[in-house]
Amino acid sequence: MSGRDSEFVCQGCGHTALAWTGRCPGCGEWNTLVETRRREPRKGGRRGGRPAAKRDAPRPVPLRDVDAPAVDRLTTRIAELDRVLGGGLVPGSLILLGGSPGIGKSTLTGMALGNLCASGCRVLYVSGEESAAQVRLRAERLGSDALAVPVLAETSVEAVVETLEAERPDVCVIDSIQTLSVEGMTGAPGSVGQVREAAGAIMEAAKHLGTAVVLVGHVTKDGSVAGPRVLEHLVDGVLLFEGERERSFRTLRALKNRFGATSEVGVFEMRAGGLVEVADPSARFVSEASRAAGSCVLCAMEGTRPLLVEVQALVAPTEIVPPRRVATGIDRNRLAMIIAVLARNGGPSLAAADVFVNVAGGVRVDEPGADLAIALALASAHRGEPLGPADGQPLACFGEVGLTGELRFVAHPERRVAEAGKFGLRPVVGPESAESIDGLESMATLAAALKSARGTPAIRRAA
Ligand SMILES: Nc1ncnc2c1ncn2[C@@H]1O[C@H](COP(=O)(O)OP(=O)(O)OP(=O)(O)O)[C@@H](O)[C@H]1O
Ligand SMILES: [Mg+2]
Repeated sequence: MSGRDSEFVCQGCGHTALAWTGRCPGCGEWNTLVETRRREPRKGGRRGGRPAAKRDAPRPVPLRDVDAPAVDRLTTRIAELDRVLGGGLVPGSLILLGGSPGIGKSTLTGMALGNLCASGCRVLYVSGEESAAQVRLRAERLGSDALAVPVLAETSVEAVVETLEAERPDVCVIDSIQTLSVEGMTGAPGSVGQVREAAGAIMEAAKHLGTAVVLVGHVTKDGSVAGPRVLEHLVDGVLLFEGERERSFRTLRALKNRFGATSEVGVFEMRAGGLVEVADPSARFVSEASRAAGSCVLCAMEGTRPLLVEVQALVAPTEIVPPRRVATGIDRNRLAMIIAVLARNGGPSLAAADVFVNVAGGVRVDEPGADLAIALALASAHRGEPLGPADGQPLACFGEVGLTGELRFVAHPERRVAEAGKFGLRPVVGPESAESIDGLESMATLAAALKSARGTPAIRRAA
């Protein structure tokens, strides 16, 4: 390896240097020099003037004349994974799978390769993080299909590319991209330059071999995939595997997908025998929900699928200034906004209280339709009274809360109400919608919803 195979290029001004410095000598910006592999200038190339010999310019082709053979997707036989991918892996595509440590990335990819191998695909598992023996131990837990997967414990990109060329697998998993290093580059594996070059080299090989590659990637503290942003542009899809490690539920969602929708979510549960798909997550979450003060059921949409989750809130007198605002599974800023709107629109003032809001089961809800559930759970926690009718069922609701306290329409109200109806949760409190929906108790404002959720005659009588 020689240090001269790479150079350091400023990401701001393009200045090149032979050694790394904290400040770019060209533009004076800090921390912009990134190690890049030096490329031989093209012989007879066009750089720096006119082409050496006159060549015919390449001709553009109308799209309808482009040769595009229909390709079958490779199904991993993990239905939730296939759904998030948009129907399976596309041959020749490059997918980045991110997730926090220990979430189950290696387990998921190991299971997928085992299934693909059993259905006759050529597969390869490249492990840079664990020895082959460690990978075998995991595969033993996953079953005999996973044990049939060929494994390569390697961290050199050149060696991985050579193996890809020799083996020509249909699907290859690289676990993980942060452990690979490129010959001739001095940066540590996982540095911006290394990750970019490694991913570039693998993509080049994968595209001409038609191999579908899944790159496993680490996730930084703030939840984005570690490494350069360019990696996310380079790949065809970015999947994020999330969940709390202590909880058994994990969700898989697509942040980017060139071959399918990005709104789909897969739900898994970690068990001793590997990850198990949760085909009907609503049933799991609703069965755990109870009619308690500070709890209500949110009819959320995860992509095209309605999902019922329990939103729990706790309000307690505070001893500190400013009071605590702890949000798990929802956006913290959204929580702050709802607390403010509540205080102005018939709800309690929580200025002197610590507030904790949690979406049970370790699920993350990223849609404005969760606002009403958070607001009602907070009001109920503050009063110490359960919501909804006194027949033992928790209250179900959905809707976006505006800054002026109005309830706003959110997409697919009929599907949300129908999903709640499946579990006997009726009526569902939600915003007004153009067509009438059976089972929906529509409200125009947050104040009206608060009143309705509280003032059910059944509760009054029971009290
Ligand atoms: N016998 C078991 N029963 C239940 N769960 C298990 C068992 N063995 C391992 N696990 C779970 O599997 C997780 C590890 O999975 P895996 O190695 O696939 O994660 P990973 O995302 O690849 O982690 P890393 O970032 O370290 O590579 C553990 O955190 C644990 O929750
Ligand atoms: Mg792993």
